[in-house]
Amino acid sequence: MIRGFLFDLDGVLVDTAKFHFLAWQRMAGELGIAFGHDENEQLKGVSRRASLEKILAWGGQTLPEPEMERWMATKNAWYLEYVASMTSADVLPGAAEFLRSAREAGYRIALGSASKNALPILELVGILNLFDATVDGNDVTASKPDPSVFLEGARKLNLQPHECLVVEDAAAGIEAALRAGMLALGLGTPEALPQAHRVLPDLQGQDPRSLVADLEARAAAIAHAGAEGAAAERLAASAHAAAATHSATEDAATPNTHLPS
Ligand code: G6P
Ligand code: MG
Repeated sequence: MIRGFLFDLDGVLVDTAKFHFLAWQRMAGELGIAFGHDENEQLKGVSRRASLEKILAWGGQTLPEPEMERWMATKNAWYLEYVASMTSADVLPGAAEFLRSAREAGYRIALGSASKNALPILELVGILNLFDATVDGNDVTASKPDPSVFLEGARKLNLQPHECLVVEDAAAGIEAALRAGMLALGLGTPEALPQAHRVLPDLQGQDPRSLVADLEARAAAIAHAGAEGAAAERLAASAHAAAATHSATEDAATPNTHLPS
């Protein structure tokens, strides 16, 4: 039974994904590395350092550690300049209402973000007070799709992983949720998030209880189909084994049939 929600930040609660994109694109431009929306999609949910490493790899470049540190600081300074103007109007459609109604319905709420800037941003847009617990890039080092950010969130909420539903906009985040043993709601398109239990464009107009019931039903159907598939596989395997035994018996018997009587 689902008792808590774990929310990603960028692209789920606030529209900061565009600012990460602009800052990385500016840096890639200075390094002479091509960087477009396809590349950016692969950086969603990925930590700052891992993002820099990916961009450098796409450009066939490597940098010594002090240069890496300098670019991470520069990218972050640009990013913070872009986000400084954000207000409560930049909370994504339906997100604040969903957080409030989930709390009212008795669900526990945690943040599970790779960003080291998560807490000041939540405070800036006025929704930090809606969280029971937060886990961000300062608490965990392993990047999504590693499940640790969500496992730590569940731990802080005092819930088991199977009692948590993750809301994510990144393929890496959906994978992290599934690896943690949680339900996963994707925000975006089914093409970008094929592994999610369900995908919605945003949280607008969603009722937490109905959404939970729907995802639980989908997960149960998947588990049922999986169990049936496994049973069918076992059946096929035992039929195969029986056929093999049968033909081995026949093989063993065959020479005898040719023995002179
Ligand atoms: C989120 C974003 C990524 C970003 C990462 C680290 O996961 O989706 O695009 O790189 O956080 O953010 P930070 O604010 O610490 O640079
Ligand atoms: Mg995100």
